[in-house]
Amino acid sequence: MTTLINRTQKTELHHPPGPKGHWLYGTTRAFRRDPLGTMVKMFHEYGDAIRYRFFANLYGYLFFHPEYNKHILLDNNKNYTKMPHPSLQVLRPLLGNGLVTSDGEFWRRQRRLMQPAFHKQRIAEFGAIMTTATEKMLQRWQTAVSADEPLDVAAEMTRLTLEIVGKALFSVDFTGAAHELGEAFTKANHLSSELGLKPFSIYTLRIPFWPSTRRLNRNVQVLHRIVDEMIAVRQANPPAPGTREANDLLSMLLAARDEETGVGMDDQQLRDELNTLVLAGHETTAVALSWVICLLGQHPEVRTQLEHEVDTVLNGRIPTIDDLPQLTFTRMVIDETLRLYPPAYAIARWGNEPDVIGGYDIPANAVITLSPYITHRHPEFWSEPEKFNPERFSPERKENRHRFAYLPFGGGPRICIGNTFALTEATLILAMITQQFRLELPPNHQIEPEPLITLRPKGGVPVFLRARMNG
Ligand code: HEM
Repeated sequence: MTTLINRTQKTELHHPPGPKGHWLYGTTRAFRRDPLGTMVKMFHEYGDAIRYRFFANLYGYLFFHPEYNKHILLDNNKNYTKMPHPSLQVLRPLLGNGLVTSDGEFWRRQRRLMQPAFHKQRIAEFGAIMTTATEKMLQRWQTAVSADEPLDVAAEMTRLTLEIVGKALFSVDFTGAAHELGEAFTKANHLSSELGLKPFSIYTLRIPFWPSTRRLNRNVQVLHRIVDEMIAVRQANPPAPGTREANDLLSMLLAARDEETGVGMDDQQLRDELNTLVLAGHETTAVALSWVICLLGQHPEVRTQLEHEVDTVLNGRIPTIDDLPQLTFTRMVIDETLRLYPPAYAIARWGNEPDVIGGYDIPANAVITLSPYITHRHPEFWSEPEKFNPERFSPERKENRHRFAYLPFGGGPRICIGNTFALTEATLILAMITQQFRLELPPNHQIEPEPLITLRPKGGVPVFLRARMNG
């Protein structure tokens, strides 16, 4: 009789394939040596769903297929939280419990609160802030044009995007602090990504005198100090009603009250949200623009086409938000760059309940990683995936793509809140740089991706500035 099933009988779980690894350390060493290369290698060997050992009998899961991305980020997103994924826990000292690292009802409330600051019409108001800051940078470049020494354009982009996010969201000028903040964040970026690859970091991070904890805290404190100063100055000088300051995101956060209790955000929460927005709001866009410049330096035919569009559409004037629909190729270059070098090259989730993905059993409390970097090079979804070809993002070709085959901003409810902000900013900046300069890489210069928290070009991007006649 088929009903007589032995309920104590152990059913075999169907695990995804993957490397056996060392019995104790699993594949941790390979990941520490070369996280991106290890992931790519595993994808070529095992495919779209992988189980790997990271310590003793603890396993992690990698998923690369667009359908799996959709399942985790959208269809069954309630099962997949940020915490307590180890690589997000190591971001806690930097980002606290802000929008990137929080979960559940708390996250939902904070997201709802901040969303209006990122509406399309608000971003349109930021256009002038973006172009004014870029124009100031380009004027500075004019004086450096004949220099024999190359300029590190990655550092320039960091400074520029930091200035823009400060002015647009908080009406503050971070230019004075840009150098200090940039250095501290670069160090924190290295330290956090190193810690994310060590199995015991989540414990050592709780020990304040542990050497790596001390080093991280020293750099994190720089960011905290700058953000605390910003809050203190605003609290001491409340803006007059009707001014820009009175309506910016800082004022919105300071004025926010819980619907039920009427209580505002406490100091710690306010600081966490602001730290998160300052960091998430500039680093990724700066990295994306640095990659654009690398790729254009390596593909002169694309650069020529870009120059042609910018010269024709703008005819020498400074762009505005209204020019964006005409700057189609400029946007295609950015989209294609974000495909090849997505600044957020890995997306982490914690699977709370058991689930079945692609026919594989995934247990409760699963450490899950998705990778836009790998999905964006998936040969089933991208022809000649390694080739830089902005034409893939022409409006017609964009239509027919799997929605989760391209996810530089993630997807589902946790999709990047700043995606329109970032794309608007990157398009205006790229158009203005192209109008006035040709940026040339030193001959035979090799650019290597460095997978930290973000995917940066290793060692920066040295360029020689050549002024253009048509600009
Ligand atoms: C090219 C630039 C950018 C890229 C590639 C990028 C990428 C991403 C990705 C992939 C996520 C989702 C992470 C996940 O699901 O775990 C995310 C979230 C987020 N991003 Fe961005 N981002 C960019 C620019 C910005 C900007 C300009 C801002 C703010 C001004 C911003 C603020 C945030 C915040 C606050 C979150 C958390 C959203 C939430 O969970 O509700 N990002 N970003």
